[in-house]
Amino acid sequence: MQTVKRLDMLRTLTAQWRSAGETLALVPTMGALHEGHLALVRAARSEADRVAVSIFVNPTQFGPDEDLDAYPRTLDADSALLKAEGVDLLWAPSAAEMYPDGYATSITVAGVSDHFCGADRPGHFDGVATVVNKLFNQVQPDVAVFGEKDWQQLAVIRRMARDLDLTRPQADAILGIPTIRETDGLALSSRNRYLDAQQRGQAAALPRLMRAAITAMEAGTTPGAALAEFREQLLEGGFESVDYAELADAEMLVPLESVGERPARLIVAGRIGGTRLIDNMAVG
Ligand code: PAJ
Repeated sequence: MQTVKRLDMLRTLTAQWRSAGETLALVPTMGALHEGHLALVRAARSEADRVAVSIFVNPTQFGPDEDLDAYPRTLDADSALLKAEGVDLLWAPSAAEMYPDGYATSITVAGVSDHFCGADRPGHFDGVATVVNKLFNQVQPDVAVFGEKDWQQLAVIRRMARDLDLTRPQADAILGIPTIRETDGLALSSRNRYLDAQQRGQAAALPRLMRAAITAMEAGTTPGAALAEFREQLLEGGFESVDYAELADAEMLVPLESVGERPARLIVAGRIGGTRLIDNMAVG
């Protein structure tokens, strides 16, 4: 595996692969890698001749009161994991390489960014769309792989790729991989390491109560009633807040009033011990 930190070196390496007729898959990450990220890497491996993983903790997608400084940075451990997976290229640019002096451009994807995490974290999806577009332009992959764990993020990136006629990758070469979970159902996340043992135990209520709410909605309980019950039980179970818990149109990422009209997801964010956890599951 080659670790590259400068754009000119990245271009030299990827140009060699392209001229040899090899295809390239990219897995964008912010590091602190876990089995969820590695599932994306394995999917990427099966899609292309070469696999690139990017690690960049993108400052522009963090709000002023968010965990940018505290976000775990574990490059040596990450690098060892990626090497063991047979990754060809680790792209790990500095913030100065990504956003040099005078940097001025931002991408806004309206509509799919408006609700849920987009409403709770102003500017977050602008930061995500912009950095992902830059990563696409830098690496120029044939395929890019993302997790369904961040369902709204995946929808934002697909919308951007369609709207801007991206060709590396094309919108239909942006793959979504189902969420990898712990045995108690909690979705793997780099932020789970902020939880102490008690909070970690309580966090398992999130996927369990989501499943119960989905079962109720599928059996005819209205989303309003099922989600009111869900919120109450999550707060009783140790969560200090529920930022949102909504039935969403799976593609448009707008709230839905009822189950069955359109492909739907239950999409949730809540806080436990100051840590914000998100999850989503199919409904219907
Ligand atoms: P990060 O949170 O590091 O996640 C990188 C990728 O791993 C994302 O596509 C995310 O959805 C996926 N992922 C995380 N946990 C997962 C799980 N339990 N199962 C399956 N996939 C999982 O998402 C970002 O970084 C950033 O916003 C980024 C896209 C890199 C832009 O900065």
